[in-house]
Amino acid sequence: MKNNSTFALRGSICYSLDAETLAAEEHAYVVCENGVCAGVFQELPSRFQGIPCTDTGSSIIIPGLTDLHLHAPQYSLRGTKMDLELLDWLNAVAFPEETKYSDLTYAEQAYRIFTEDLKKSPTTRACIFGTLHVKATELLMDLTEETGIKAYIGKVNMDRNGPAELQEADAQASSQATVQWLTDISGKYENVKPILTPRFIPSCSDELMGELSDIQKKYRLPVQSHLSENPGETLWVQELCPDSSFYGDAYDRFGLFGGDSCPTIMAHCVYSSDREIALMKKRGVYVAHCPQSNMNLSSGIAPARKFLDQGLHTGLGTDIAGGHTLSMFRAIADAVQVSKLHWRLMEESQKALTFAEAFYMATIGGGSFFGKAGSFLPGYEFDALILDDSLFPHPQPLSVPERLERLTYLGGDQCVTGKYVSGRKIF
Ligand code: GUN
Ligand code: FE
Repeated sequence: MKNNSTFALRGSICYSLDAETLAAEEHAYVVCENGVCAGVFQELPSRFQGIPCTDTGSSIIIPGLTDLHLHAPQYSLRGTKMDLELLDWLNAVAFPEETKYSDLTYAEQAYRIFTEDLKKSPTTRACIFGTLHVKATELLMDLTEETGIKAYIGKVNMDRNGPAELQEADAQASSQATVQWLTDISGKYENVKPILTPRFIPSCSDELMGELSDIQKKYRLPVQSHLSENPGETLWVQELCPDSSFYGDAYDRFGLFGGDSCPTIMAHCVYSSDREIALMKKRGVYVAHCPQSNMNLSSGIAPARKFLDQGLHTGLGTDIAGGHTLSMFRAIADAVQVSKLHWRLMEESQKALTFAEAFYMATIGGGSFFGKAGSFLPGYEFDALILDDSLFPHPQPLSVPERLERLTYLGGDQCVTGKYVSGRKIF
């Protein structure tokens, strides 16, 4: 459905021009023309005179935030059972919870809570893992569609190394279920789209990867998965795939690692070698940098400065429930903080991220996976957040970027009083 409405929001507008530069204008207008941003103006151009305008007073208006990696079924786990490393945590915590989504009554209860919170959050776009269950994943898509948020959602594939209750019988069963899912949802949604979701290499046999490669080509699907997250996991992949030169190569052998016809997001990349990073650059693979999850699961610190310097597409993810909060503001602050530890403790040649760089990752960095999203430059999808930071009073006047940085650290989610996605008011 085309969004035929033209309107303006007025306030203190702040957005990224590029990875280093924040633009800020006080008492300015940002104009939405049929779902697309027409630009930021100090005075409304004559062609926009008389359009509806909401004056947000002293509120800050920023582009929407993209969560490039999270697991919807793990939302019910957030903030609990955080004392294990990845592989033990998967077996003891994540897999048992995901098993419950074979029960649609449980799935509906849990996914309603998740989607209601997602709607209220600062996230306007998201790339989401479901579970291996077809019906529960379709329910998640139905509920996410209703929020108005734009999302890629994946039915997870896994045919090995899982518990019997959370594993597909074999590659054929997994691929048939995937085709069933794609057939069921074909043409059904405006806001949500399918994304092929092999869980990670340890969960997917070569035969399954071959099947998924065929499905990817036939349905022209994007791909999301995990890469080089944890030392034990990375070693295990070497054992499982002795012919692959590095972890990413195990996806690449099946054509599931970027390239023009296979847009791909890989979460984490904490232990990506220079060769792996070079291939990601060549193939345009997106990194979903998930600093909070990397802390909670003791995974390590991803070299975010290196990703930026090498020109990799880099966005931020909450990785619910490796990460415990849905807050993309918190993800921005975490990205800056862990980059300081990386600089101080690991590689002094790689300087810490600035706030502007982490904000860029959360807006244009991840948003560009959806096309033109994450900025108020003309031609971008009109995704916007209105932020009232008056609940954090300050004794002196601050600049708009200072206010934005401050509310990011102090709890930005509480400040969101309005949200638009592609020009549509969510609340
Ligand atoms: N690798 C494979 N599955 C998962 C998961 O659910 N969470 C995280 N953080 N890493 C994974
Ligand atoms: Fe994950």
